[in-house]
Amino acid sequence: MEKAVVKIVKLGGSVITFKDKFKALRTDVAKRLVSELSRYYKESGESARVVVIHGGGSYGHPIVKDCVSKYGFIDRDCYVETADSMDTLNYVLKKYALAAGLPVVSLPPRSFCTISSKNPVCHIEALATLLYKGLVPLTYGDVITSDKGFEVISGDTLAWYIARELRIGEIVFVTDVDGLYDSDPKTNPGAKKISRASIDEVLGFLSISSSKVDVTGGMVRKLYEGRVLGLRNVKVKIVSGFIENNLYSALTSDNFVGSVVCY
Ligand SMILES: Nc1ncnc2c1ncn2[C@@H]1O[C@H](COP(=O)(O)OP(=O)(O)OP(=O)(O)O)[C@@H](O)[C@H]1O
Ligand SMILES: [Mg+2]
Repeated sequence: MEKAVVKIVKLGGSVITFKDKFKALRTDVAKRLVSELSRYYKESGESARVVVIHGGGSYGHPIVKDCVSKYGFIDRDCYVETADSMDTLNYVLKKYALAAGLPVVSLPPRSFCTISSKNPVCHIEALATLLYKGLVPLTYGDVITSDKGFEVISGDTLAWYIARELRIGEIVFVTDVDGLYDSDPKTNPGAKKISRASIDEVLGFLSISSSKVDVTGGMVRKLYEGRVLGLRNVKVKIVSGFIENNLYSALTSDNFVGSVVCY
């Protein structure tokens, strides 16, 4: 048997939830995206493997934002509340995925990651074993312990971390915009789309501070992190999740609505 191609798909909280409406899921979008993943998984047979990660959207960011603005840090109550909220979102997605025939197994990062001297340290052996046995690990942005207390690990960070550890060549970020622009297209109607670029080119004209701020940093941080972690030979696709079959197209071709950033 040929070696299976492994891809990471991060379903952005921006696309599976209404980011400005507390704990509101975009049910139809979430169901459709897991169906597209399931189609890809079934059609690929043994030749492809996929790790699915989801973000927090309005199940994660507002809770963390609230307690950080009140206390300056994540306290125990906030940790528990965020963990519970993320589990709720994960449970619903997991059920949709299983109903669509995608054999996902939920793995909350708080049980295998910690932050030590500002760096995430994750024990992904179980995730890798499940993946190579043909199952689909489903993990997510979460609250985790750190040497200082409690912190957030974003779905984006997890995507990069797992890509580095498993030497994965492709990450698909599914999000609520139709690609990468030279500035935030939501606040700048004149923003120009970048269809394909290297990460060095991207970081040349997009500063990290230009990113829309959610607790995990938005689009520019998403891309910058891969650079910080030293990823090489990774193709990153930024894909709109609102267009039917677009995720499936991105998984099976280079012909999709979105952008490609090469590392
Ligand atoms: N240069 C840019 N190009 C495209 N989008 C940008 C850019 N700069 C900022 N953005 C913003 O980044 C947002 C996507 O990042 P965001 O963190 O909100 O989504 P996500 O990662 O899908 O959600 P979550 O963090 O909940 O998983 C877009 O909605 C867009 O407004
Ligand atoms: Mg984000």
